[in-house]
Amino acid sequence: MIRNQWYVILESKEVDRKPRKFRRMGESLVLWRDQEGKVACLVDRCCHRGVALSAGKIVQGKVQCPFHGLEYDGSGACTCIPANSRIAAVPDNCRVPAYPVHEEHGWIWIWWGDAGTGRSPDTQPGDEVSTLAHNAGITQPESTPLYFPDIDGHFSMATVKDPWNTHYSRVLENQLDVVHLPFVHHNTIGRGNRTVVDGPGVEWIDGRMLYTYVFNRVDDGTPPRTPREVPVPPPDSDFKIELIMPNLWENRISGKLRIVAAFVPVDEEHTVLYLRTYQRILQVPVFRSLFNRMMCRSNLFIAHQDRRVVQTQVPRRSALRGGEQLIQGDLPIIEYRRKRDELLDAAAGERR
Ligand code: FES
Ligand SMILES: [Fe+2]
Repeated sequence: MIRNQWYVILESKEVDRKPRKFRRMGESLVLWRDQEGKVACLVDRCCHRGVALSAGKIVQGKVQCPFHGLEYDGSGACTCIPANSRIAAVPDNCRVPAYPVHEEHGWIWIWWGDAGTGRSPDTQPGDEVSTLAHNAGITQPESTPLYFPDIDGHFSMATVKDPWNTHYSRVLENQLDVVHLPFVHHNTIGRGNRTVVDGPGVEWIDGRMLYTYVFNRVDDGTPPRTPREVPVPPPDSDFKIELIMPNLWENRISGKLRIVAAFVPVDEEHTVLYLRTYQRILQVPVFRSLFNRMMCRSNLFIAHQDRRVVQTQVPRRSALRGGEQLIQGDLPIIEYRRKRDELLDAAAGERR
C-alpha cells in the first residue's frame, strides 16, 4: 500500500450517523457522519487508554469513547475530557490520527497520508515510522481525487462487494490482464478462443491514468503485433480499460455501459472488490433496477471465475522484480508495477 494517495475505501451508503468500524489499509478505522452529513475517519483507538471509538456513540457530531467519555471531532482532536470537567482545556496532544475524507460519485475516499499511525507494509525495516504516535499529524492532500471524466449524472448505477483473500495489487492486476480471458473466462467474456494478444496498447494520461487497449485474436499462425504496432484509439473512444492509481478501474464497454471497480485494501492479505455497473441503456425505473441487478450478478459470476485462480497466486503482493517470467501481453501489469514503485519511492522521499 502506497502512502500519500487517495484510496476509495467504501461506498457512501456504508456510512451513517452511527460510529462504524471498518478494517481498511491494515488499520482499524472508525467512520461516521456529523450533523452536516460530513464524513469523518479516525484511527479507531482512543488516545486515553486504547478503547475502540467505534464502540462508542455520536454526541453532537463528535464520537464519544464508551470508556471514560472523551469526545473527538472529525479532525481527531479531543474536545472534552469529562473527568477534568467540561470547562477544562484539553491538551493539544490529546488526539487521534484523522484521515482526510472526500465523498463524491457515491464513493468515500480517504487520503492515506503519512501519519506515524502504523508501519506501511511497503516501508523497509528500519524506517522511522512509529506504531503508536497518536499525536502525529497526517500529511494533507494537495488536491482532490481523480475520477473517470466520462461518467456523468445520466448513468444509473448498482454495486456489489466481493471479499478476496489476497493483496489488492493482485486483484487489480487481474483486471489489467488481457491474456487470461480465453482461459479463465472461456465460457463467458473470453469466448471465441482469442488466445493471441496483439500489443496490448498502453498509454499514460497525465501520469495518473493508464489506458489499455485490447486486441486479442484467434491464433492464425502469425506472431502477435508488438505494443508499438497496434493503433492507439482516441481518448474518448470506447472498448478500453482505464486505471486510476492507486485503486480504481473502469471498463468502457460501450457508450451506454461501463463497469467500475475499486480494489479496496483491507490488509496485506485481504481485499474487498467493489464492482459497480453504470448504464444508460434503460431509464424506466423498474427495468433499470432489474437490469442493474442482473449486471451485478453477472459481474460477480465473472469475478468469481477470476477469484478462484488469483487467490492462489504467490507471493500475495505483486512486485516489479518478483522473479516472475512476464510476457509481452503482461505490459499493462508491468506499467502498473512501474508506476506503483515510482509512487512508493515518492512517498518514501516525502517521509525522509
Ligand atoms: S479509554 Fe477512551 S476515554 Fe478512556
Ligand atoms: Fe478476469
